[in-house]
Amino acid sequence: MQIKEITTTIHEYISIEELSQEDILVVKNAKEAAQKAYAPYSKFKVGACVLLENGELIQGNNQENAAYPSGLCAERVAMFYANSKYPDVPVKSIAICAYSNSKLQKNPVPPCGSCRQVLLETETRFNSPIKIILVGENKISIIENAKQLLPLSFNNNNLD
Ligand code: THU
Repeated sequence: MQIKEITTTIHEYISIEELSQEDILVVKNAKEAAQKAYAPYSKFKVGACVLLENGELIQGNNQENAAYPSGLCAERVAMFYANSKYPDVPVKSIAICAYSNSKLQKNPVPPCGSCRQVLLETETRFNSPIKIILVGENKISIIENAKQLLPLSFNNNNLD
């Protein structure tokens, strides 16, 4: 018998000023995107911004639907748009934030399992790490790549 451990490293910051200028820009765009979310059912507005290797910033937000499962998370809206518009350009980073009652959540909101799976697919596709920036009012958490967010993932190797 063997015991294996998988480690996830989280870099925590208490203020946005501690981030690089580039990360601050991505965060600002995620916050802006959240304001335009369509979330009449949950009233939970999520914003995401993807930074591509070519410098392009792509915003996304959650899009809800009266048929609840037909809605989509902010992260996947941004990621799918980025990958559809620039199919050959790797994603460098993504910032994610959420507002409820117009207030930024105190703690960072981590992406759901399906969004992690999509982030990992893009990371694997371009063989290039995606920095994940989770933004809360009291704390900002940065994880250096999507693989750490989804240990023991199902991926293309499993299809062989
Ligand atoms: N949501 C996201 O947009 N991203 C996440 O990572 C978690 C949840 C959305 C889906 C739904 O519109 C609302 O937040 C409440 O779950």
